[in-house]
Amino acid sequence: EEKKVIFSGIKPSGDLTLGNYLGAIKNWVKLQDEYESYFCVVDLHAITVRQEPALLRKRTLEILAIYIASGIDPEKNTLFIQSHVPAHCEAAWLLNCFTYMGELSRMTQYKDKAKKLGESISAGLFNYPVLMAADILLYNTDLVPVGKDQKQHLELARDIAIRFNNLYSPTFKVPEAYIPERAAKIMDLQDPSKKMSKSEDNPNGYILIMDSPDVIRKKISKAVTDTIGIVRYSDEQPGIKNLINILSAITNLTPEEIERKYQGCGYAQFKADVAQAIIDELTPIQNKVKELLEDKLYLESIYKKGAEKANYIANRTLRKMQRKIGF
Ligand code: ADP
Ligand code: NA
Repeated sequence: EEKKVIFSGIKPSGDLTLGNYLGAIKNWVKLQDEYESYFCVVDLHAITVRQEPALLRKRTLEILAIYIASGIDPEKNTLFIQSHVPAHCEAAWLLNCFTYMGELSRMTQYKDKAKKLGESISAGLFNYPVLMAADILLYNTDLVPVGKDQKQHLELARDIAIRFNNLYSPTFKVPEAYIPERAAKIMDLQDPSKKMSKSEDNPNGYILIMDSPDVIRKKISKAVTDTIGIVRYSDEQPGIKNLINILSAITNLTPEEIERKYQGCGYAQFKADVAQAIIDELTPIQNKVKELLEDKLYLESIYKKGAEKANYIANRTLRKMQRKIGF
C-alpha cells in the first residue's frame, strides 16, 4: 500500500523559534516514518518582506540543518529548498488565476499585516496563500502538518483545488490540515494573546531554537504570568497556560498531569523547570546544527538530491495543470 503524503515548510525570514520547533518540526519527526514526506525551506515565501541576501542564504541553510538535527532523516524524506523547484512559481501563477481577490482579502494574516504596513504591503504578501496552495498541491499532498495559524490558508488551498478539479477534471488531491494537539499555538512570552513568532519585535517574547541556556532561562523567568499564584491550565492565566503547553509538548505530560505535579509550587520553581526542559530539548539539536553547518558539502548533497526528487514530482503535476488549462 502506498504511503500518504505530507508536505510542510518553514520560511527563512528570521531565526526559528520554539513555536516553529514545537508547532511544526517536532511533529514532522513523529510523522516521518508513517508518511512519504516533503519538508521544504520556503525561501520564496520569505521574500514577501525584504530580506538581506547574505542572511537569507545563511538562514536557508541553517533551517535545513535544524530539520536534520531535530531528527528528520534526509535518507527517508525529501528535504529541499523551494526556489530550487521552479514549478512552485509557475503553478502559483496558474492558481492565481483561479483565486479571487475577495478570498485573499479575507485572510486574517494578510489583514493583520496590512494594518501594520498599509499601502506599502507587497503584492507577494497578498498572494502568498496561493503560493502555499501551489507548494502543497504539486506533491499530491494528503496531509499538511501546520500550526493553527495556517489553518485558514490551508482551507483556501482546499477551495482552490476543489474549484480547479470541478472546472476541469480531478487533478489535485484535496489536502487536509494536521494540527498538533499540544503545541497548536505557542504564544508570545510577553504578550500571550499573540503567537510566538520570529517576526515580532520584542526578543523577550520568543525563544529561538539556537538560544543559549542563559538566554532561555532569562526569557522564561521574564515571561508574563499573573498574580493568582497557582500553576493551573486556565484561560484566565494565559501566560501560565502557555508555559504548561510548552512543557507538555516537550515532555508529553498532559496539562492535567503538569497541574498535579506542580500543585502548591511557586511560579519561580515552575519556570525554572520549564526553562530546563527547553534547554535539555534544544542543546543536543544546537550541537548537531553547529556540526552540520561545518559540513556544507554534505548539506549541499542533501538539498540537491531533494531538489531532484521534488522537481520530478512537481513537474509532473504542473504538466497536468497546463494540459487541462489548454497549453
Ligand atoms: P513564523 O510565524 O514564525 O514566521 P512560519 O510562517 O514560517 O512561522 O511557519 C512555519 C511553521 O511553524 C508553520 O507550520 C506554523 O504553523 C508553525 N508555527 C509558527 N509559529 C508557531 C507558533 N507560535 N506555535 C505553533 N506553531 C507555529
Ligand atoms: Na517519510
